[in-house]
Amino acid sequence: MKGRDHVLFVDDDPEILRFYQDTVADEGYEVATAHTSEMAAALVREYPPHTIILDLDMPGMSGVEFCRLLKAGKDTLSIPIAVVTGHGEREARLAALSAGADEFITKPITAGELRLRIRNMLKLKAYTDRLAQEQDILDAMVRERTRELEETVRRLEQTRLETIFRLSRAAEYKDEDTGSHIRRISMYCEVLGRYLGLEESELRVLVHSAPLHDLGKIGIPDAILLKPGKLTEDEFEIMKTHTTLGAEILAGSDDPYLQTGSIIALSHHERWDGRGYPKGLAAEDIPLHGRIVAVADVFDALVSKRPYKDPMPFAKAVSIVRDGSGSQFDAGIVDAFSEELGEFERIYQTVQDED
Ligand SMILES: [Fe+2]
Repeated sequence: MKGRDHVLFVDDDPEILRFYQDTVADEGYEVATAHTSEMAAALVREYPPHTIILDLDMPGMSGVEFCRLLKAGKDTLSIPIAVVTGHGEREARLAALSAGADEFITKPITAGELRLRIRNMLKLKAYTDRLAQEQDILDAMVRERTRELEETVRRLEQTRLETIFRLSRAAEYKDEDTGSHIRRISMYCEVLGRYLGLEESELRVLVHSAPLHDLGKIGIPDAILLKPGKLTEDEFEIMKTHTTLGAEILAGSDDPYLQTGSIIALSHHERWDGRGYPKGLAAEDIPLHGRIVAVADVFDALVSKRPYKDPMPFAKAVSIVRDGSGSQFDAGIVDAFSEELGEFERIYQTVQDED
């Protein structure tokens, strides 16, 4: 239930204050009076009124100063203030107006006018309060909706990344069923990409699309994919098609992860010297992401167990990657690899195959 309206009268003349009180005695308001601005300020702080009738000419803090003080306060600026002035006090009116006064009442004041003015000011206050309240409710609703939307976007993004990761795992499932190879590839690529100065957004795309590099293995017959020994020339030709197959599966998407995944699938077996496959691209004609994944992929393959080989010791794999600088690999990326060996070793030690 709405409480009673609360009116504050401020005037240094006790006669006038009494007249005000008598005038509104039957209006049902809570009434407070103050004979100085200082006293009024203390009352407002303690119990904010719904409107104030204010005399301008008072000892101590003037009415104009008091008005300015209230209009500068976040909690008090919406209290309507009616300023009482005499005839011809043009300067004082202007000063009060610039201090934020909402209404002017000219002396001599009749009881009828005072009652009407107060009613109007209280209406104004109720209206302002309701607007502010509705605005608060609206703000809270917007905040809540924004939070929900952000949460949905976050969950969608998580699902999207998880789907990409699981798609990558499906491709690796036959020859490596723990997913740790693709996890390490992501981590190695992140280390290299960051060292090479990729922006965060670009790095994120690289990290989440790199696991798709061998997606085309889905289309390679088991007899070739899982063959324990060396592949024949014909078999190797078929094995090479995992690059184009992967690129085709991922081609034509609007999704940056899948787009980059397609580029990486196609280019991760190209060599800096142009002797790679499937296109025989050389040097910077090979997309950067493909060049980065090439280093990460070969290094990880060397130190991992495969159906046809035992894992190679870390130091030996490092020297093989370094030997490939400028021939198999982009020398700049091998430099990054050399500079970040500590990180590579940490990942190699911590993200192990679970067999
Ligand atoms: Fe591959």
